[in-house]
Amino acid sequence: MPLSKISWPRSANPRGRPAIWINAAMSLDGRLAFPGGKRAILSSPGDFRRVDLIRATSDAVLVGAGTIRMDDPSLRVHWERLRGQRLPSEARGRKDRPPTRVVIGSSKGLPPTSRVFDGVLPTILFSPSRKDLGRTGPRTTVVPTSGLRVDLPWALRWLHVHGVQRLMVEGGSQILSSFLSAGLYDRFTLYVAPVLIGGRSAPSLFEREMLGKDLSPVPLRVQRTQGRDGGILVTIEPR
Ligand SMILES: NC(=O)c1ccc[n+]([C@@H]2O[C@H](COP(=O)([O-])OP(=O)(O)OC[C@H]3O[C@@H](n4cnc5c(N)ncnc54)[C@H](OP(=O)(O)O)[C@@H]3O)[C@@H](O)[C@H]2O)c1
Repeated sequence: MPLSKISWPRSANPRGRPAIWINAAMSLDGRLAFPGGKRAILSSPGDFRRVDLIRATSDAVLVGAGTIRMDDPSLRVHWERLRGQRLPSEARGRKDRPPTRVVIGSSKGLPPTSRVFDGVLPTILFSPSRKDLGRTGPRTTVVPTSGLRVDLPWALRWLHVHGVQRLMVEGGSQILSSFLSAGLYDRFTLYVAPVLIGGRSAPSLFEREMLGKDLSPVPLRVQRTQGRDGGILVTIEPR
């Protein structure tokens, strides 16, 4: 699908949470990164443009603490990649309204030098860690949580009440597994790169632990598959 035709789905619960678009890239053997979690570049240049367009048209981009630790992403929109491309009307005026960065924090706290705390863009950190509660980085809002886990539906409501209508969820493995197993998405796009990674310590797209003792598979509804740069782009919508 050309970039100009990309548009956001509606939220399945428009009063209670933002529209949620999950996006990830994995190897043909289902790995998100190299063994030990070292970042793997799996998207093709064309796929990176698609990812940047989703970021550009979202109000917020969410990742987990593990991704901050391993990849230290800036989560900014790379407008330079989109230069010269025909973009949808949803992208209009978005350069002046970059997405807020949202981090689901860890019970162990996050490195203060992480790029999401650089103050270049606003960051919201949901954190169960005492270490993070005192963080007063520039343009960082810390939302304390009770207990050691962030209740995702609660965090989604919080974001919605604070103006987030379109939320892009980018990973990593635990976050994707939590959102997918709870059915918390309106669209899920997955770029399957034509490579194999292997290795038990390489993070997978889906971690079984999220389901506890339940052994049943998580059903998905594939809406479309498209060949792209030697890989496959799979679009999944809720059942
Ligand atoms: N290919 C892709 O599209 C893509 C995209 C993003 C990331 N990645 C890769 O994914 C890997 C990271 O995945 P990951 O599973 O280690 O990390 P993650 O999903 O980014 O974050 C997991 C961490 O976040 C915290 N967390 C998650 N859910 C929580 C909740 N509900 N409440 C409180 N804390 C919660 C936990 O911290 P504690 O357990 O410490 O409390 C957990 O360790 C990296 O290797 C990265 O390169 C790949």
